[in-house]
Amino acid sequence: MPVRDLREWMARVEQLGELKRITREVDWDEEMGAITYLVGKQEGGPALLFENIKGYPKGTRSLWNPFGSSRRRIAVALEEDPEMPMMDLIRATMKKLHRAIPPREVAAEDAPVNENVLTGADVDLYKFPAPRHWPLDGGRYLGTADSVITRNPNGGNLNLGTYRMMIQGKDEIGLYLSPGKDARLHITKMWEQGQPIAIAAVLGVDPLQFLVSSQGFPKNVSEYDYVGGLRGEPVEVTKALYSDLLIPARADIVLECVAEPNRLKAEGPFGEFTGYYGRPEAECPCLKVLVIRHRNNPILTNALMADYPSCEQSLFFAVIRSARIWNDLERMGIPGIKGVYSHPAAAGGFGAVIVQLEQMYAGHVAQALSIAAQCSGGAYFTKWIIGVEEDVDPTNMNEVLWAMSTRCNPVQNIDILRDTWSTWLDPSQNPPEQRPWGSKALINACREHRYLHVFSKRTALRKEMYDKVVAEWKDLGLDGEPPRLLTFHADDKRRALVEAQEMEKRSQPDASGRPDGGSVSMSM
Ligand SMILES: Cc1cc2nc3c(=O)[nH]c(=O)nc-3n(C[C@H](O)[C@H](O)[C@H](O)COP(=O)(O)O)c2cc1C
Repeated sequence: MPVRDLREWMARVEQLGELKRITREVDWDEEMGAITYLVGKQEGGPALLFENIKGYPKGTRSLWNPFGSSRRRIAVALEEDPEMPMMDLIRATMKKLHRAIPPREVAAEDAPVNENVLTGADVDLYKFPAPRHWPLDGGRYLGTADSVITRNPNGGNLNLGTYRMMIQGKDEIGLYLSPGKDARLHITKMWEQGQPIAIAAVLGVDPLQFLVSSQGFPKNVSEYDYVGGLRGEPVEVTKALYSDLLIPARADIVLECVAEPNRLKAEGPFGEFTGYYGRPEAECPCLKVLVIRHRNNPILTNALMADYPSCEQSLFFAVIRSARIWNDLERMGIPGIKGVYSHPAAAGGFGAVIVQLEQMYAGHVAQALSIAAQCSGGAYFTKWIIGVEEDVDPTNMNEVLWAMSTRCNPVQNIDILRDTWSTWLDPSQNPPEQRPWGSKALINACREHRYLHVFSKRTALRKEMYDKVVAEWKDLGLDGEPPRLLTFHADDKRRALVEAQEMEKRSQPDASGRPDGGSVSMSM
């Protein structure tokens, strides 16, 4: 049975030994954040369920570090084997992103989220243990690991987005939206017409919905369909009380809100995915909360934003963002892509993307890199887009740095894109008011295609020798497992064949006197 909600996911994760319940009293003011930061420093550290929060009654629960840096917990949400290697998990996710399954509506009485429905004077956001994460945060944040639902005024599709939400009062909450984000576009469109807009916010969220909400999908699709597609069955949704939005029926906590035209309030700062506070306090949409719905003993989900590996979004971005970009490259018909890796250590998985490919024609790398840089899955923030060949493991930074240092000649193999889609949160752009515009470097760390025939041969083991050493590993008294290699020395027969082909090409130069730029197979 696929996991249907947060509680079912937590049960599986607990069986794997990856959920730690903290029963000693902790404070919402910085303490839960501090414990999570320190636990997060251990790669693969557990998810934390705080069950005793100062000033809150028994039964109040707060989940932190849900995915953290655990590939196994991400795999559980994606319905994959927790022991699956990273690149296999990305590939499996990429394939499943081709599948869209629309949500299934259930009656209000069959929706667990309706166990408690609070309206009017009963609406009180302080009922939940909203934390302050970092010392300089501008307030208490209820929404970090969340999913904000809006309907696109152009086309009617439902969007899911993860955006931070700061409490502004008992029944008011602020929403921080970067330029270009879907909910921001929807709000702007409605406000331009003088209309309010309905917004629902899921604050106790199914991890798979959180994962999808944090990704950029084409602006005209319903993102519930991707949650369904990844899970292999529809998300159960139910009608909102005051709008035509559909909310997840099995969520732990949902707010139904309205954003009245031009109602703004100062929000932030907040310790962000960059490992810095973002821009100083500034005005953001302020939403009026009309209804709170929650399950009994609700669980509030939280995402600490920090430097790696304590940043909640880092490793799951390495899976889902890589899969999204790979999927976009495939849809654009770019051949030869062997892997895509949005590196978790690069500012919450946003900063650097490595594209692994088999060079098939002149210009192939430049084409793949520029699309990876600007496709809907990868355009936001990414600063470094690095192309490597199939003998370089994109998840292994040692190998990537080796390729950058031996196959890239910076003066001719780095291109810069200017005025690209970025964020107020990028500390490298100053003065801060100029921030939303960014730039990107496309780094071609593949052997130069037009000189493949003369490019130095890589030192590589013969396959037979590798197999012999692996077979004798234990007898040699060596510990651990022998490393897996992606490439071997081409055997003499193959090398002779490749060299003959290259000789032939060189004897038929094109008009510029260069070889014809056609495909050349890899010879080491
Ligand atoms: C934990 C977490 C918090 C985030 N907070 C914000 C935020 O406050 N504002 C924002 O614009 N994007 C934020 N993002 C990034 C967006 O979720 C992401 O860009 C996503 O694509 C937005 O959805 P959209 O493409 O439908 O607009 C956050 C991501 C994560 C994982």
